[in-house]
Amino acid sequence: MVGITLGEDHSIRAVTQAPSGNSTAAENGQRPVVLELDGLRAHFATPQGIVKAVDGVNWDVREGETVALVGESGSGKSVTALGIMGLISPPGKITGGRILFGGRDLAQLSQEEMRNIRGHQIAMVFQEPMTSLNPVLTVRRQMTEGMEVHLKMRPKEASERAIELLTLVGIPDAKRRMHEYPHHFSGGMRQRVMIAQALSCNPKVILADEPTTALDVTIQAQVLEVMEGLAHRFNTATVIITHNLGVVARYARRVNVMYAGRLVETGNARDIYTNPQHPYTYGLLQSVPRLNEPRKTSLIPIEGSPPDLARLPQGCAFRPRCRFAVERCGQETPLMALVGPAHAAACWVAASPGGLPK
Ligand SMILES: Nc1ncnc2c1ncn2[C@@H]1O[C@H](COP(=O)(O)OP(=O)(O)O)[C@@H](O)[C@H]1O
Ligand code: SF4
Ligand SMILES: [Mg+2]
Repeated sequence: MVGITLGEDHSIRAVTQAPSGNSTAAENGQRPVVLELDGLRAHFATPQGIVKAVDGVNWDVREGETVALVGESGSGKSVTALGIMGLISPPGKITGGRILFGGRDLAQLSQEEMRNIRGHQIAMVFQEPMTSLNPVLTVRRQMTEGMEVHLKMRPKEASERAIELLTLVGIPDAKRRMHEYPHHFSGGMRQRVMIAQALSCNPKVILADEPTTALDVTIQAQVLEVMEGLAHRFNTATVIITHNLGVVARYARRVNVMYAGRLVETGNARDIYTNPQHPYTYGLLQSVPRLNEPRKTSLIPIEGSPPDLARLPQGCAFRPRCRFAVERCGQETPLMALVGPAHAAACWVAASPGGLPK
């Protein structure tokens, strides 16, 4: 079954993915949701006002599924991921909503409880591996530490698994190379080490925050391919966070588009790419080269910049940049509405009978 239901507040509930790969629709429909955000809010109390970095966001990810979270810089993607990991630092905090994982609401857990989940059950891959890999420890040490602590593996056993994982992510001669330090590896190889490390404790979810942004396009594709293959192999739910909608085209089954702290469009990747309904998504697609298509037309950047999240305009946050705006857009905040069977957008014009005039 493929479908979206909208909550009473027009939040999205239960998006079931379309058939993918070798699986049948029935198999996909039965895959359990592993992580669900339900109206998540994360705000920063600053001298300039309350910065609503994440403001009522709903999405979920299923076992073995790759979902993308996309939006320009400053749209709240990283704060969402940090919120899930329990890593938002003051003056920021989760101010509402739930993070449902394994029958619990992570937003309610103590730091102590979150330490057992972080890295072990939910792992994160960051944009720049040099900031998260420790430069003074060998790759072997960094790979095995989590396995020894969380999985209670003996050093020899952990080393063997490290070699296996490093080989799987495409590090040649892993047995020898794991005794080297991160700076001995190229950017792409370091990113692979991060992915292997993230996978080492068999997490149920991997949050990959701009995992390939620092890499050149060919290497980006290779790394994403590795991630997608491993997600299938280990049945890991994977959330790829990126500002580049073009990059995730081939790898994500579903796409969630964020703007100014809110979700503005969600749907199966195919629908989002071939039939975007929110003007922002439409703009994002026109502004980035796509990995899966030869460039046909020149790129058109979205004019203007994202709003100050402490002073959001009345109505639709995208209105100052939107060429489709109508009067209502300046008065009322658009609510999520179905624009297809498994496709929803928060736009007054997209939801109107004529849809978006493209
Ligand atoms: N430490 C902070 N203090 C105040 N505001 C912050 C802080 N961190 C993030 N923000 C706000 O949250 C917004 C979203 O940030 P972020 O989630 O990092 O964006 P993205 O990852 O989409 O580029 C930023 O535009 C900024 O306004
Ligand atoms: S609600 Fe209006 S301003 Fe906002 S994206 Fe849709 S058309 Fe543009
Ligand atoms: Mg970010």
